[in-house]
Amino acid sequence: MDFSGKTIAVAITGGIAAYKACDLIRELYRRNAHRVICIMTPTAESFIPSLTLQALSRFPVYVSELAVDHAGVPIHIVVAQQADALLILPATADTIAKLAHGGADNLVTTSAITFTGKPVLVAPAMNTRMWDHPLTRQNLQTLRQLPHYSVIEPSSGSLACGETGEGHLADPETILQALYRAVHPQRNLFEGMRAVVTAGGTVEPIDPVRVISNRSSGKMGLALADELFAMGADVTLITTRPPVGRPYAVASVQTSAELREALGQRFEQTDLLLMAAAVSDYKVANPATEKIKREKSPETQLDLIANPDLLAELGERKRPGQLLVGFAAESSDLVRNATEKMRRKHLDAIVANDISRSDIGFESDENEVTLLFSELSPQILERAPKSVIARRVLGLIHDRLIAPKAKLKLVKPEGSAL
Ligand code: CTP
Repeated sequence: MDFSGKTIAVAITGGIAAYKACDLIRELYRRNAHRVICIMTPTAESFIPSLTLQALSRFPVYVSELAVDHAGVPIHIVVAQQADALLILPATADTIAKLAHGGADNLVTTSAITFTGKPVLVAPAMNTRMWDHPLTRQNLQTLRQLPHYSVIEPSSGSLACGETGEGHLADPETILQALYRAVHPQRNLFEGMRAVVTAGGTVEPIDPVRVISNRSSGKMGLALADELFAMGADVTLITTRPPVGRPYAVASVQTSAELREALGQRFEQTDLLLMAAAVSDYKVANPATEKIKREKSPETQLDLIANPDLLAELGERKRPGQLLVGFAAESSDLVRNATEKMRRKHLDAIVANDISRSDIGFESDENEVTLLFSELSPQILERAPKSVIARRVLGLIHDRLIAPKAKLKLVKPEGSAL
């Protein structure tokens, strides 16, 4: 997630979850946000001092609905002019009620009613009874129906009041992902597409304790899934390293057999498959059901059998219009070996990684890849954070594989057999 160039307004209202805004502001800057503008209601100030937020947001924090900036411009107008998105966190039942009825009696509600044509994200947090109240439900429904509003659904959990139930502020990662999607420069690029991304190294048992696996961290696949979601796709991530707090479907698998089954269940309904998982090529023929004891077997041999090539199998089954993108881990002859894999597995593109380099790939947060298409020249994507590489890879996949087909559909004459 990269918020470069983006200004985010964070509006804090009076609930105990107000303190969670602090970490969020830091995360936004950590992910390159240009500026965070903080506004609050007077009640929010009882929960968290504006000075804390001022230090974290690096700018004055405004509380009064009559506040103006150094040039005398009212703050709710500054927010409307400068912010790319307005995040209300936490949104109390009272604020939600006011928003749903167009109220404007404090700086947060005044800013919200001025903030038209750009995304407003509402992250509710309150006691379960308030959350369950039919009026709160109705007010949220009113907000959901507004085209530029979205509600970041709260989770269930233990609430500050000691009760347990729904109304717990969504976790920070989910909030960031929703915000990222709202301000993403290419947010509609994959709209309407059903994408499956696989990630992580598969894990094959030797006995109940030991496994055969590989060094794949799953970070590249996760970055691709995050970017695809932000670009509007309907995403499913199938991974051996499930992340916390993602607003899209995540299926957790361990062995290559489980990955094969998970893919089999979804492949028919998939428009785009990005196969970033490092699938074990071998598994133990007969994994031991009891732990292998060193004293009983000072020497032991493992019989390995080959796993099926999942991508090659899917390449055989591919229907017209379906796009398959593979990943190639190569320690030599990168382009030649990757091109050969692309042909053999009937892929539309392949992302080749040079695994002989220790500064990129596997555990690293950065990568450098070569993207190959079957009929186009290779593209080298210079070293960058995996999220940036993911955005570039997806941009090229769109431009080279999806956009040309969309153009063809547009020019196809009525009744044409083309
Ligand atoms: N792959 C797969 N099933 C396997 C092995 C690999 O689906 N049993 C997929 C990977 O997810 C990747 C692509 O095939 O998208 C290439 O994987 P890679 O490990 O680079 O190549 P292999 O085909 O396994 O060939 P080799 O290990 O001999 O280079």
